[in-house]
Amino acid sequence: MKLLVTGGAGFIGSNYIRYALSAHPDYRVINLDRLTYAGNLENLREVESSPGYTFIKGDIRDRDCLRDVEFDAIINFAAESHVDRSILDASPFLQTNIMGTHNLLEIARERACAFLHVSTDEVYGSTETGFFNEASPLQPNSPYAASKASSDMLVRAYVETYKIRAMITRCSNNYGPYQFPEKLVPLVIINALNRRPVPVYGDGMNVRDWIYAEDHCRAIDAVLHKGSAGEVYNIGSRNERPNIEVIRLLLEKVAGHLGLNKDELTGLINFVRDREGHDRRYAIDPSKVEKQLGWRPGTSFEEGISKTVDWYISNRQWWQRIISGEYMKYYDAQYGERLKK
Ligand code: NAD
Ligand code: TYD
Repeated sequence: MKLLVTGGAGFIGSNYIRYALSAHPDYRVINLDRLTYAGNLENLREVESSPGYTFIKGDIRDRDCLRDVEFDAIINFAAESHVDRSILDASPFLQTNIMGTHNLLEIARERACAFLHVSTDEVYGSTETGFFNEASPLQPNSPYAASKASSDMLVRAYVETYKIRAMITRCSNNYGPYQFPEKLVPLVIINALNRRPVPVYGDGMNVRDWIYAEDHCRAIDAVLHKGSAGEVYNIGSRNERPNIEVIRLLLEKVAGHLGLNKDELTGLINFVRDREGHDRRYAIDPSKVEKQLGWRPGTSFEEGISKTVDWYISNRQWWQRIISGEYMKYYDAQYGERLKK
């Protein structure tokens, strides 16, 4: 299997590449990434010299960067992914998430290759009760969610119109190693370690459905191998939590590491102005992927959060280099030759 993974230098993409190369030593993985602020080749240090791994610096909107590259399937992780940034400026989200996906769909059509589009539960909008299943209407509320919903619609249209072999996964909120520190879980851990205030939007009672990134990666692999063309698969761990509960648990774990009493860091909690259009609750019904593909999450929330806190504590250099901006230079050091061409 020769896989084109787009956005493989980001959080979930890099977790997926590490997972895929270790679970399937016969895979060849080509990582195409534009290396935006969220792309970090240091995420892939463990695999960068594996014979099965190749990196190409390129933009999913650019047809030419893939002209001479061969592959059997595309997994599209590449995206602008942060809701707060999409509220400040939606334009890069429309460019990459919609136009970039369209470009990849054209390539999948031309080459008749399989296409797995990695999407999000945020396309369904917010619900106070019940769960989103694959038939729930798309009612995105943030510019990020609207751009992902648009790309999902394009995938659907290419399946219907051109009969391409595409599938969509819609996953809930991920957490785990290598998540960029703008997102809630790493932000809380790092701010707590630095004894800085932890911003809680609104009343802290917005609910997210949390999944450990490695479980998401295994689900993507199951869909790639066993999924049916044209289908959508919701992925989630049945693990809803109000934000404030997640934040308190993280602060407790960090306090434990620092040898403090469990409540000693709660004073860092700082309620701030709410996010505009802040979705109240996401909740995924993952029965389809469980029943049809036999996937189950392997990591409980307590265990996943403990592992994640341990990882950020053991990998201070990784996030300190992000905060200082040093991580951006890694590409030049590793791939300087290619950069000069
Ligand atoms: P991320 O922001 O950490 O990584 C995105 C990656 O895409 C980066 O490496 C970036 O450099 C790359 N990229 C951006 N624009 C590009 C372009 N034009 N061409 C090539 N590469 C480009 O995001 P993530 O959290 O790893 O999310 C990956 C995918 O999973 C996204 O499609 C996101 O919508 C989806 N998703 C994320 C979550 C979550 O909780 N993080 C949940 C469900 C679905
Ligand atoms: P985030 O990690 O940005 O993911 P998403 O918006 O895609 O769900 O945020 C998760 C939740 O945490 C969301 O309800 C917003 C909230 N939040 C805070 O309260 N404070 C913060 O500093 C951040 C980044 C998020």
